[in-house]
Amino acid sequence: MVLADRLRAIVGDAHVLCDAELRAPFERDWTGRFGGPAALVVRPGSTAEVAGVLAACRDEDVPLIPQGGNTGLVGGSVPRDREAILSLARLTDLEPVDAATGQVSAGAGVTLGALQEHARQAGLDAGLDIAARDSATLGGLAATNAGGLVALRHGTARARIAGLEAVLGDGTVVTRMSGLLKDNAGYDLPSLLVGSEGTLAIITRVRWRLVPQAAARVAALVPVDSLAAAVDLLAALRAGVPSLEAVEFFLPDGLELVCGYLGIESPVRPAAVYLTVEAAGAADPTGELAEVLPDDALVADDTAGRARLWRLREAHTEAIAAAGIPHKLDVGVPLDRLEAFLAQAPQAVEAAAPGARTILFGHLGDGNVHVNVLGPPPRDDAVDVAVLELAAALGGTISAEHGVGVAKARHLRLVRPPQEIAAMRAVKLALDPQGLLNPGVILAQP
Ligand code: FAD
Ligand code: MLT
Ligand code: ZN
Repeated sequence: MVLADRLRAIVGDAHVLCDAELRAPFERDWTGRFGGPAALVVRPGSTAEVAGVLAACRDEDVPLIPQGGNTGLVGGSVPRDREAILSLARLTDLEPVDAATGQVSAGAGVTLGALQEHARQAGLDAGLDIAARDSATLGGLAATNAGGLVALRHGTARARIAGLEAVLGDGTVVTRMSGLLKDNAGYDLPSLLVGSEGTLAIITRVRWRLVPQAAARVAALVPVDSLAAAVDLLAALRAGVPSLEAVEFFLPDGLELVCGYLGIESPVRPAAVYLTVEAAGAADPTGELAEVLPDDALVADDTAGRARLWRLREAHTEAIAAAGIPHKLDVGVPLDRLEAFLAQAPQAVEAAAPGARTILFGHLGDGNVHVNVLGPPPRDDAVDVAVLELAAALGGTISAEHGVGVAKARHLRLVRPPQEIAAMRAVKLALDPQGLLNPGVILAQP
């Protein structure tokens, strides 16, 4: 039996998409930079069906690309060479919140937005937020160890995952959904699978650790006259505002692009750096913030006002994508090197691709900079190399929160020594002996 027929017998006719038009939305990534034709798209509706799909693909030796909401930014969720796309979007079970543990079990295809809504109805919150909340799935967030806007307070996805269920590349089903805070019985496979970008296992369910829902929330947009002053303000916020949740940054050219894209005037005075700050807690954090923020900060404590301030930061991704196909380089640098990085990155880009446009923004509190470059063709990675080498030279990382994907697999050696890469290859071989799960992601093909 050919693979498509075998898969139809497992998931039903409606969930095997072979037609080019039906495959198309799954075949290109959010940025438009990555993608290619898939052999087919298969959409299982249960863990047992996922295991069946894996077994069939193993028998037929067909590689699989796991895909959730397809909002990933490093080319890991789309095909390269006629692989099969395994969409987890139908795994949308969302169980009642367990009030005693503050946890909830959910299918890998549940979107972050749906989880947030569900948690809030129980007086809790997801403890993770990104602008792609209405499309990105819990499986994708776990697989990429997503960071986002509130990592400063609540950590990355790994801190939220109290357990998971997954089908390993060799077909083994790992079920660790008890949510035990303390469980030191051997190697922690769920931890290993978080951030494995679909290369070791297919995540089918997660046990999510929720956080208390804040009764009061205040956002501020703060103009600052230098990056050094922004870092000083970050230190003052950490010291003086215990309910601090986010400290994000963007620069004047990003603000101008976003205002043009949204068709609005900038609401804030001209400055060298802009910070989006949020504090949230059981008590109103306005007083604490006022002690630390400069007088010309714009402050909002109502939902609409906060959304207006946040929009200027969150809309960077859309505004950049509307201007072209960007090279998106998500790096992290130690805070004491951030100023050097922000000064040198545009020079490095200019040297590698004269005339290219560089937009910098990101998560100041995490030392996480998003370098977006418009101009160079998608396949030309000279600017990628220049920026990643700079981040590595300054003691940083080539991937802070988006993952390695295919975009950075060749550059992993910049921040991981050969011995560590060899250990990663050994883990890959142990869990996915046929090498069928997301080949070429994280570990470049030899
Ligand atoms: P996909 O894009 O479908 O997949 C991402 C990777 O995970 C791929 O390698 C895929 O193979 C693998 N994968 C997906 N599901 C599974 C599964 N069930 N089992 C195994 N592997 C799987 N990221 C951040 O970290 N912080 C941000 O602030 C942020 N903001 C964003 C804002 C916008 C507007 C956009 C478009 C993206 C943003 N991202 C951000 C990137 C992206 O949303 C995250 O990487 C997210 O975790 C991807 O989830 P997804 O369901 O879309 O996964
Ligand atoms: C963000 O912080 O807005 C995201 O990581 C998306 C991006 O880098 O564009
Ligand atoms: Zn980000």
